[in-house]
Amino acid sequence: MVVSNRVPVPSDSGSPAAGGLAVALNAALQQRGGFWFGWSGNVSEEETPLQVHDFGRVSYAVTDLSQRDIDEYYAGFANRALWPVCHYRLDLTEISANDTAGYFRVNEFFARRLATLLKPDDVIWIHDYHFIPLAAYLRQMGFENRMGFFLHIPWAPYDVSSALPAYQTVLSGLTRYDVVGFQTRRDVENFTRCLEQEKMARDLGDGRWEADGRVFKVDAFPIGIETDLFRQEAREAKSNSLVRRMRASMEDKHLIIGVDRLDYSKGIRQRIEAFACMLERFPNMRNKVTFLQITPKSRSEVPEYLKMQHEVAEQAGWTNGKFGDVDWTPVRYINKAVSRTSLAGLYRSARVGMVTPLRDGMNLVAKEYVASQRGTDPGVLVLSRFAGAAEELDSALLVNPYDTEATANAIVRALEMSLEERKERWKAMMARLRSNTVDHWCANFMAVLTQEQSCALPKG
Ligand code: UDP
Ligand code: G6P
Repeated sequence: MVVSNRVPVPSDSGSPAAGGLAVALNAALQQRGGFWFGWSGNVSEEETPLQVHDFGRVSYAVTDLSQRDIDEYYAGFANRALWPVCHYRLDLTEISANDTAGYFRVNEFFARRLATLLKPDDVIWIHDYHFIPLAAYLRQMGFENRMGFFLHIPWAPYDVSSALPAYQTVLSGLTRYDVVGFQTRRDVENFTRCLEQEKMARDLGDGRWEADGRVFKVDAFPIGIETDLFRQEAREAKSNSLVRRMRASMEDKHLIIGVDRLDYSKGIRQRIEAFACMLERFPNMRNKVTFLQITPKSRSEVPEYLKMQHEVAEQAGWTNGKFGDVDWTPVRYINKAVSRTSLAGLYRSARVGMVTPLRDGMNLVAKEYVASQRGTDPGVLVLSRFAGAAEELDSALLVNPYDTEATANAIVRALEMSLEERKERWKAMMARLRSNTVDHWCANFMAVLTQEQSCALPKG
């Protein structure tokens, strides 16, 4: 039983799932089969029955939420408190007692709805920051099923995390699972330090902790992609019409690509600034490169997101106004989601992949960019040190995205890198991507969740 707030129930419109959680869980569930439970994405003021859809090996059960629930739980506490705190952005954190109460109320509501579906031997895998207290509510209702939690986003250090409203309740909610998984070692260290600091759990060694008579396991499970399948898509995408149109319009210019939801954690404005700085300092690059930034809108109901939409658009416009010419648009900025097949082909056409978040749990785009490259002539990944992916993809050109000039230099270095060095770096990264795919991620987590011994401590 997989649980997440966002559930991409297949639909005829087939709009692509822009978001790493949906992409990864979709891949994992298609492979293994299962039940996927969460929010329908729809508003309903009355309590409507659960909507169940069966598609082959995967069944989806989704529920609507009222506007108030969405405002307080999703747009409020989850995306104006938890998201910014976990991304180290206390300056953007909004604290509201209503939102905090709404978050816990809606979690309890989801627990009640989930309870109607659960069988005693179901293994439950709960995902992401929307549902941290879900296990606590299910335990209160008497469920002793195996329950695992995976956080797709970072966990910030104690001094930052502890600014979260209801911090201790959130933290203790995580101790009600059997396994708590994070993307990186750094997140695990930050989290376990919080447990120690609050004296909320006892360290039993080997990643095992004890709280209130229960033992739970904490570990890093870096999420992967369907490496070979994505690579295959990239190979076949040359016939894709969007990819063909893009390639035809490029003439002999090099393509630099960025793909991100429109989110302040992604460093999109800083990235365009670095590109502009590169054009300023290296005039020989003008008219020779095009920067394509694909950025589907995200969470527009949250004020911080609306504000950054304007800032990014302004930065792209300013750069084009300053450096563009009648026959050259330096930045092509697109505000809509692109299908995964088209993305694979665009990545493959791009000489440089720019993945420069200010903070990111993992960042699947970085992995997809590498998987899409031609082994005989690969492009270069410029990667933020603050993306979880940097722990594995350390053969990328690692940058500090706050340092505009250094990032500009890295772009030039990537554009001028010898074929030999490009191949060497790419090979090292591909080896990592092959040894840790999304299937490995899922299998590793499930193995720990199902094989860990019973978590009740012996009496006495
Ligand atoms: N994505 C997509 N179409 C788009 C933009 C993004 O399918 O137009 C996908 C992308 O291929 C990747 C996911 O959305 O698989 C984004 O995941 P990532 O971990 O990079 O970031 P998140 O959005 O989860 O923060
Ligand atoms: C990130 C989060 C996911 C979320 C996705 C898209 O990947 O980790 O939990 O689903 O962004 O955001 P949204 O708010 O549209 O679900």
